[in-house]
Amino acid sequence: MATAAAHQTYGAEEAGADTTYERAFDAAVAADERIEPRDWMPDAYRATLVRQMAQHAHSEIIGMQPEANWITRAPSLRRKAILMAKVQDEAGHGLYLYSAAETLGTSREELLDKLHAGRQKYSSIFNYPTLTWADVGAIGWLVDGAAITNQVPLCRCSYGPYARAMVRICKEESFHQRQGYELLLALSRGTPEQHAMAQDAVDRWWWPSLMMFGPPDDESAHSAQSMTWKIKRHSNDELRQRFVDICVPQAESLGLTLPDPDLKWNEERQHYDFGPIDWTEFKEVLKGNGPCNEQRLTQRRRAHEEGAWVREAAAAYAAKHNDTTGAMQA
Ligand code: 3HC
Repeated sequence: MATAAAHQTYGAEEAGADTTYERAFDAAVAADERIEPRDWMPDAYRATLVRQMAQHAHSEIIGMQPEANWITRAPSLRRKAILMAKVQDEAGHGLYLYSAAETLGTSREELLDKLHAGRQKYSSIFNYPTLTWADVGAIGWLVDGAAITNQVPLCRCSYGPYARAMVRICKEESFHQRQGYELLLALSRGTPEQHAMAQDAVDRWWWPSLMMFGPPDDESAHSAQSMTWKIKRHSNDELRQRFVDICVPQAESLGLTLPDPDLKWNEERQHYDFGPIDWTEFKEVLKGNGPCNEQRLTQRRRAHEEGAWVREAAAAYAAKHNDTTGAMQA
């Protein structure tokens, strides 16, 4: 950013009471400029970004688990290669997001510790099991589809490092969504058993996908402030509606139905109406009582412990490399 003189470099002793900084920040946000790591920003803006980006990063790496479950059982080499690439992409997304969060002064270790201690959330969607191969398709089509709908506007987020990370993530998510659609299409046009398997997966993933957008607007604690700061560009309900409108014709093309008897085009609103979401289920999943919450966190903690030697080796290599570079420079 920093085209405007409005941007002020953060200085601990100067910030706080000085409303000049706050005015400059507000003006930069109003002018749709990017806030960069060294700019002054309100503490609450920083805290909200860390909260959202941490939750987002955690979702990416926990999200590797349900799909990795099917890598060894993919029905062909082609499908296996695609799925492995996709799961690797998710690890990369986590890395971009943890790195972006680090620009706000929060280390990756700290965020991971909070995830492992259950003090930070990850997306509700990853607490559901992947029961059949068709679930890989349903995750790609619906879960990655919902993620893109939610995340494309984040490419215009007011915080520069987050916005830039999202550009690449969205490109990759778009590929993920298409592979899921293509997988489901193959099953839907396959044998009656394959078609039934695809339908069953869509039946199970539809409602949890709608919950990914968060609570309804009138219960969303952070939306109003996040939209004022241009972290979020649309409300939870707006994005949810956009997703439903995109999915209905796609489901028709797939030859599959969406499990909602109330889904109906509303001529007046120019949107699809849809039935009530079970928010009790959503709240239970957030409280840790979803079908797979415990399994996901246990697995994540185990992976972290088992990866300790890799982190140690990488740190030792970096230290050695720094010593060598230092010696060469001396
Ligand atoms: N799962 C878990 N927690 C959720 C949630 C969900 N689906 N939706 C909302 N919440 C949490 C919020 O984090 C907040 O909790 P907190 O106060 O303890 O932090 C609380 O519920 C209230 O919700 P709000 O609507 O007030 O929260 P936000 O304004 O932050 O909006 C959001 C929620 C729309 C998810 C927003 O944070 C967001 O856009 N995040 C970035 C995108 C993201 O995290 N996506 C994860 C999806 S999965 C993914 O990307 C992986 C890919 O591979 C599919």
